[in-house]
Amino acid sequence: MWSVCLLRRSFHSSLRLMKQQKGRSAAEQRWMTRQLKDPYVKASHKLNFRCRSAFKLLEIDDKFRLLHPGDSVVDCGAAPGAWSQVVVQRVNSAGTDPELPPGTVIGIDLLNIPSLDGAHFLSSHDVTEPSTHSKLQELLPRGRAHIILSDMAPNASGFREMDQERLIMMCLSLTDLAEKILQPGGSLLCKYWDGILAQKLQDKLLSVFGSVRTLKPNASRKDSAERYFLARMYRKPVK
Ligand SMILES: C[S@@+](CC[C@H](N)C(=O)[O-])C[C@H]1O[C@@H](n2cnc3c(N)ncnc32)[C@H](O)[C@@H]1O
Repeated sequence: MWSVCLLRRSFHSSLRLMKQQKGRSAAEQRWMTRQLKDPYVKASHKLNFRCRSAFKLLEIDDKFRLLHPGDSVVDCGAAPGAWSQVVVQRVNSAGTDPELPPGTVIGIDLLNIPSLDGAHFLSSHDVTEPSTHSKLQELLPRGRAHIILSDMAPNASGFREMDQERLIMMCLSLTDLAEKILQPGGSLLCKYWDGILAQKLQDKLLSVFGSVRTLKPNASRKDSAERYFLARMYRKPVK
């Protein structure tokens, strides 16, 4: 199975690999050809990002100024770690600039996340599990995050509506996580696949956040149903 990210593979070695892929399916060949032509894949190799998705977060953050030095950030579905690379730089969690307050970055994934200076990773953890929420409360300074990011995606089943629904359910579970760790005024950025249940997610977010925007960064492929909700000004629900 091809990984969505071509991990640190050079352009030429990818080309060589492609030539060796005579046994691969037509879909896999098409995927590889698209990767090789993609300017964001090339740029991620050049800038040493683990994955092209880094550019989606860079673009969103450049426009909406989400990440600040000193922030505590939880990165859900963090593997292989490209978003965390961006966050580490922007919140100064590697402490590279002594003039700025150091932030905190915690990444979680079902898969292994290769280590990264300035980030603490919870590999083999499910974001939707209450036991993961408890671990986050222990690890975060004062048990609180300024921002929850989610680029999570379930393994594709091949049934579009079913996959969309699974991703929406995962995003809805982030509101439970927010209730435990997100500080008032905090932000949530989450990926979803557009479909009939997207409105339900947006309504849920609007019930606990002051504003919710729909984003489609340029780095997100035009032909994909991928979208992001950026929800800001969190207010804890009154029970
Ligand atoms: C598109 S990738 C994320 C790429 C990442 N943002 C980056 O820049 O490197 C989606 C990830 O979501 C993870 N994922 C899916 N369901 C999850 C869950 N319930 N808990 C934690 N991670 C999950 C997958 O294992 C996968 O690694």
